[in-house]
Amino acid sequence: MDLPFPFALPLPTAFYLTAYVVTLTAHVVFMNYVLAGTALLAVAFARPRPRPGESIAILKDWMPLMLSGAITAGIAPLLFVQILYKRGYYTANLLLFNRWMAILPALIVGFYALYLLKSQWLTRRPAWVRAAVAGVPVACVAFTGYTWTENHLLSVRSPSFWGDFYATGSQVYTEPQLVPRLLVWAFGAVPTLAVVLAWQHWYRGTGRPRSIAGLAGVGLGLVSAAAGGYALAADATTREAFRSPMAWPYFAAAVAGLATQAGGWWWVRTADQFHARRLLACSVGLALTIGGMTVCREAVRIHTLGAARFEALYPAHADAFGKGGLVLFLAFFTVNAGLIGFVFWLVRHRTVAPPPAAHGPH
Ligand code: HEM
Repeated sequence: MDLPFPFALPLPTAFYLTAYVVTLTAHVVFMNYVLAGTALLAVAFARPRPRPGESIAILKDWMPLMLSGAITAGIAPLLFVQILYKRGYYTANLLLFNRWMAILPALIVGFYALYLLKSQWLTRRPAWVRAAVAGVPVACVAFTGYTWTENHLLSVRSPSFWGDFYATGSQVYTEPQLVPRLLVWAFGAVPTLAVVLAWQHWYRGTGRPRSIAGLAGVGLGLVSAAAGGYALAADATTREAFRSPMAWPYFAAAVAGLATQAGGWWWVRTADQFHARRLLACSVGLALTIGGMTVCREAVRIHTLGAARFEALYPAHADAFGKGGLVLFLAFFTVNAGLIGFVFWLVRHRTVAPPPAAHGPH
């Protein structure tokens, strides 16, 4: 592994890992929007005297579709992670069992609660009911994110560790890395939300650029602090992974992305305008950060598994690569991408202005 990702890897492994990283990056954008967006909605609904706000109206309107986007965009990396790390991934699923499967009802409940947030019924309820209902989607989404992290960390442990874990009968896995890692995901969601929300405002010609730039600034500060905490809590293998030839150019790109985002938001703030060129700078920075960190995350997994265990997976990748089906995959990918694009178009063009309500965030 003495070359940057994915050049030191055999072609089938490089292909699947690249496809995995690209599709996981798309999933991260959606799930960040949903994670930070549902949290903002919960705060807005919990206010005793809610103030109408354009951003909250956009979040309320778009959130069910964005949650569907997060779920749908999760399917492609789910496919690739099973080809790449079959045994570890399935073992963690089986060990966590009901705890793992609980993400399905949690996502269903969270999804329908998002429609309640849009209803006039809720605006007529007392403040505590509105706050309680608005807490449901964020709790469900956060639980799902926590479960993915838990599953991921368990999937890279050794077979003997899995045996011992099974013997305990527990369906909850924890380790010192869990909380620092979750904090990076949670705070990292805020700058992504700021970028996507800013584009939504730009498209509608509305919004307060300084507020969104402030939100992004707070998010960038918090995620940098959380990343520092993660680095302090990290073990030697994780640090070695970040320094490895495979990962360090991507780590440098991720840090450059943070600086680009900070500069872009400063530019937005000083002009107090959602200008496309300024938002493009923020978006490029965001893409560098998410893409770079997704590769580093993979480098950490590969180092944690160790060279022997990782290289033992190569024949399975070559076997899957030899099966063909790429043309079919690309055909379905194109059809589905077109259909999903059409759904987004429908949501954009069929947005109905809500009738004036007596209470509740708009
Ligand atoms: C909207 C709720 C969701 C949230 C908040 C969420 C959050 C996350 C997080 C935080 C991770 C990274 C875990 C880590 O590295 O510590 C992750 C990974 C992943 N998620 Fe999601 N996720 C959601 C829904 C889904 C769904 C429904 C799917 C599948 C259809 C999915 C597929 C994946 C895959 C395949 C990975 C990579 C797993 C691995 O490499 O071990 N996610 N998700």
